[in-house]
Order: sequence, then structure tokens, then C-alpha cells
Amino acid sequence: MSAASLAGRIALVTGAAGGIGAATADALVARGATVVLSDINIDALETTMARFRGGPHRALKLDVTAEADWETATEEVRATFGKLDILVNNAGWGDRRLIFETSFDQWKKLLAINLDSVFLGTRHMMPLLEASGDAAIVNVSSIRGLVVGVGFGPYSAAKAGVHIFSKATAVECAATGRKVRVNSVHPGFVATPIMLDMVGEAGIAERCRDVPQGRFALPEEIATAICFLASSDASFVNGTELIVDGGFTAI
Ligand SMILES: NC(=O)c1ccc[n+]([C@@H]2O[C@H](COP(=O)([O-])OP(=O)(O)OC[C@H]3O[C@@H](n4cnc5c(N)ncnc54)[C@H](O)[C@@H]3O)[C@@H](O)[C@H]2O)c1
Repeated sequence: MSAASLAGRIALVTGAAGGIGAATADALVARGATVVLSDINIDALETTMARFRGGPHRALKLDVTAEADWETATEEVRATFGKLDILVNNAGWGDRRLIFETSFDQWKKLLAINLDSVFLGTRHMMPLLEASGDAAIVNVSSIRGLVVGVGFGPYSAAKAGVHIFSKATAVECAATGRKVRVNSVHPGFVATPIMLDMVGEAGIAERCRDVPQGRFALPEEIATAICFLASSDASFVNGTELIVDGGFTAI
């Protein structure tokens, strides 16, 4: 069975300069969608955008923690496309430290990038998603939003917030007649910069032993799950979580 086409669909991906976000942009474009790639790191974003030159796709500087940036992004998407069919709240950041060694500023930074971002994106893009008439939000949480690990407390708290916020948004959209499905994706270990920052190369080798499939995920494997939830293949999938972790949370 081939994956559903996303032809004619307009998608916005946050944190799209690299890692899972860039892989998601690639996967959406491969399925026919027009993608607005956004990131705080405009230099890296320009490099990623090089492969989409000449197409209808757009690059946008968007700091997901800045409400003014979301307002600008909303205006740009409205002016260019008039609607939004798919919002992928992917941008995230983590660092590894014990709760007792976390300053309030570090806590607020983690919550802002991982959780405030999802609220702001949902809040500001909702009118454009409603204009779609058949929209989907996919929020990128983590296995750390479901199970904890030593040193991941604040990150887990933020990602657990994304998990339950996704369900709440799905239910509120349905209750208010908004045709917007909302789901969360929970990647296991993926060898991207955020993971290298948190555990280092040695930590990656160590963690492979805890994964039943014995390896890390490729960013493309997370992107495929995101595309599924964004597509008509998932037309009755709403308010749920999709774990993509090679079996890590099954044991
Ligand atoms: N890599 C993993 O093992 C893993 C596991 C579970 C969940 N995740 C989640 O997947 C998502 C993508 O992470 P990744 O692995 O691709 O990491 P990554 O570090 O490769 O990419 C994160 C992107 O987010 C961008 N970003 C950071 N702060 C931002 C901000 N304030 N505004 C806009 N963009 C910002 C970065 O510039 C970067 O391009 C994150 O939400 C992360 O928490 C990753």
C-alpha cells in the first residue's frame, strides 16, 4: 500500500533546518506538499532550503518562543497561501541535568522552547488551520514525555506537557466544530545534534543496548510517522500518540 498523497497541502514545519524537521520537510515535499520551513537558525535553514530552490516552498525565520515571530509567520502564510493544512510543531531543545542542579532560568528556557512553542503555534495558526477545512497538527514530543530517565526531568516535564496538550487540543477542536486533528509523535533515540548534546557519542553507543531493535532511529523514520498522522491515511486518528522508538518503551 502506498502512502497517501499530500498534493495541494500546505505545511509549516518548525525547527526545519536540520534533524527530524528537515527530514520531515523532505518527506512532505516527496508526497506533494508545499512546505514552509522555519527555524531560529537562519543560516542552517538557508543551507537546507538549497535543495528546494525553484519550487513553491518557503523559508521563514521563526523563533518558536517569540509570539511576535508567530504573528509574522501567520501573516506570511495567510498572504501567500490563505490557509494551512498541516502544522508540525517540531522545534525543540534539551540539556541533561539533575532537577536539583537546574536553575529557574534553565527550567524556563526548556519549557519555552519545548512547550510554550506548541501553545503559541497552535494558538496563532488555528484560524489558518480552520480555513483548511481538513487540517492536522502533529506535535513532536518524545519517549521522555512518557517515561523518565535520570537527568531528563525538566525535558520530560515539557514533553509530557506536549503530550497532554495535544490531546486537549484535539478534544477542544472537535467540541467546537474545528476540523483539525491533533496528535503527538514520540521519537525514541535519534542521532541528531540535540541527542549528541545531551548524551555524547559514548552515550549513544550505550543507549543502543537498551533498544530492542539495537539501534537509533533515522530522522526519516520519524518523518514517515509524522507524514502518516498528517495525511488522510490517519483520517480517524485523533488525540493519540504514536511512539517510534524501536521498542524502547515496550520493556
Ligand atoms: N533526537 C532525538 O533523539 C529526539 C528524541 C525524542 C524527541 N526529539 C524531539 O524531536 C524534535 C526535533 O529534534 P532533532 O532531534 O531534530 O534535533 P535538532 O537539534 O537536530 O533540531 C532541532 C531544531 O530546532 C531548532 N530550534 C531550537 N530552538 C528553536 C527556537 N527557539 N525556535 C525555532 N527553532 C528552534 C534548531 O535550530 C534545530 O534546527 C525536538 O522537539 C526534540 O525534542 C528528538
